Amino acid sequence: MLLYKFTKFYELLFKFPPVLIWREKAINSLEKELKNLNIKPSNILDVGCGTGILISLLRKLYPQSEILGIDISAPMLNLAIKRYGKLAKFKNLDFFYFKERQDLIIVFHSFTYFPLVPVIEKIKSLLNPGGSCVIVTNGRAPFSIIHQFIVSKLLRTKLNIYSPKDFQSLFPHTKWDLHSRIISQFEGSFILSVSNKI
Ligand SMILES: C[S@@+](CC[C@H](N)C(=O)[O-])C[C@H]1O[C@@H](n2cnc3c(N)ncnc32)[C@H](O)[C@@H]1O
Repeated sequence: MLLYKFTKFYELLFKFPPVLIWREKAINSLEKELKNLNIKPSNILDVGCGTGILISLLRKLYPQSEILGIDISAPMLNLAIKRYGKLAKFKNLDFFYFKERQDLIIVFHSFTYFPLVPVIEKIKSLLNPGGSCVIVTNGRAPFSIIHQFIVSKLLRTKLNIYSPKDFQSLFPHTKWDLHSRIISQFEGSFILSVSNKI
């Protein structure tokens, strides 16, 4: 997307309320969820890592793990490498071409770029037995609908909005532990966590 060529401008959008506050809430929710999961992943994949906003947190929570950030946008990824190249590895790659199995997959505010069923099948195919996936994304709410409209008109990019319910049938409870929580009602953001029952 055009916006991701202008990485500094992209980051500027997150420097002012209410987006700044929503972002802090989303990161805090992710940290809380990861602590609750209480896992020791040997490897972690940050899908659509952008400029690497999560890398310091992941390194703090998982000092021993292999952390890999992937992103389809080279400018975003280059900034991530410049900032966090010592803390993690990075690859300029479309998630659908990624092949290495993982203990933990995080999709933080990049889920709207993916069609639901294919991306869930991809995530399932990559998770190791007992592995977990945590998704932070925007559901149907005033802000996300306005945001979706502006992005489609100005940037000609389709964003997909899902609700926590859309995930339930894709993760049958016989095989998966799934739960979700709203992060911000107005933004429509929620966190969804799924773990593969061994
Ligand atoms: C809204 S940004 C979020 C970036 C970062 N997670 C953050 O919160 O700052 C969405 C990111 O997803 C990336 N992305 C979109 N489609 C992708 C794909 N198919 N594979 C990998 N990355 C993708 C974009 O390039 C962009 O950097």
